[in-house]
Amino acid sequence: MPEKIRITEVGLRDGLQNQPVAVPVEGKLALLEQLIEAGVRHVELTSFVRPDAVPQLADAAQLVDAAMQRGLASRLDDCMALVPNMKGYERAHAAGVKSVALVLAVSETLNVKNINMTLDQASGICETVTRRAADDGVRVRVYLAAAMGCPFDGPSPPARVQALAARMIDAGADRIAVADTIGAGHPQDVPALFEPLMRAHGQARIAAHFHDTRGLGSALAWQAALCGVRQFDASIGGLGGCPFAPGASGNVATEDLAFLFEHAGFATGIDLDRLLDVLDTVEALLGRRHQGRVAAWLANQRTKRRAQAAQINALSS
Ligand code: COA
Ligand code: ZN
Repeated sequence: MPEKIRITEVGLRDGLQNQPVAVPVEGKLALLEQLIEAGVRHVELTSFVRPDAVPQLADAAQLVDAAMQRGLASRLDDCMALVPNMKGYERAHAAGVKSVALVLAVSETLNVKNINMTLDQASGICETVTRRAADDGVRVRVYLAAAMGCPFDGPSPPARVQALAARMIDAGADRIAVADTIGAGHPQDVPALFEPLMRAHGQARIAAHFHDTRGLGSALAWQAALCGVRQFDASIGGLGGCPFAPGASGNVATEDLAFLFEHAGFATGIDLDRLLDVLDTVEALLGRRHQGRVAAWLANQRTKRRAQAAQINALSS
């Protein structure tokens, strides 16, 4: 049996939060459905932040409700929503969300810019929200943002990431997503960051979230896989970026990571041909071409396979 790699699709949140076009609920549902058809089972659907801070995701409650009504949420193993504070948690809980993602930047300044709190305040709020979620039976994942560098404060010390990860797991978080929010990381920095986290908490608890700002997203993911990481975030077509973290470009593309790992013999459960269809939908919704690297090559291969199949059919009929 091939070893599994879990890819969590964050395009609907991390991807769409930074687009000039606000995608309507129906468009988001169409995207979600196609991603599910392609085999995606872990999704970050939206975020319950201030609607005026991120208008692209102001329909969070409506989207969650529609995903449940249409039977899409129940086809997922994890349907997460990001919450920045207790108010966001309460809105998500009221909407029926069973899995939340909290955000804690490991640097001082990004917390202020992103969620208007100091690191100390943000850590405290994360603990409080995590405990409350545990009481409600809601799963918690904590993003440790800017884990490889902050646009304001520079490089992030791995020891700080480790201390915050341990603190959040103690508070009841079931997963930590180590996030290179602005794509500041280099593959050679990955072992010092991830090896101690994997030793301390294991594969089930640690996920890696890379951005492809400098074209190193896949290399970072591969290096993290060599350190034992088996859970990765990605966004279809490499959509993404954070409006509050200057310099952040899109996440590493789902199709690039699925290709990287499938080609190495891991099982992601994702059908690459079907992802190509999802990319067409992304383009139709946003009016621009995706940023992923492998899609053009995959499309070429698909065309060749189809031409060969047509030839064989013609010969046998
Ligand atoms: N959802 C909706 N409204 C919220 C809210 C939330 N999660 N949190 C606070 N508010 C409202 C409050 O009710 C209050 O409203 P009022 O003026 O009508 O009483 C107002 O916002 C101010 O509340 P305050 O607690 O001072 O929040 P803030 O203004 O410091 O905003 C955040 C904090 C985190 C909600 C805001 O900075 C935000 O949404 N940031 C977006 C972060 C993000 O999406 N980053 C990218 C992903 S990492
Ligand atoms: Zn991100």
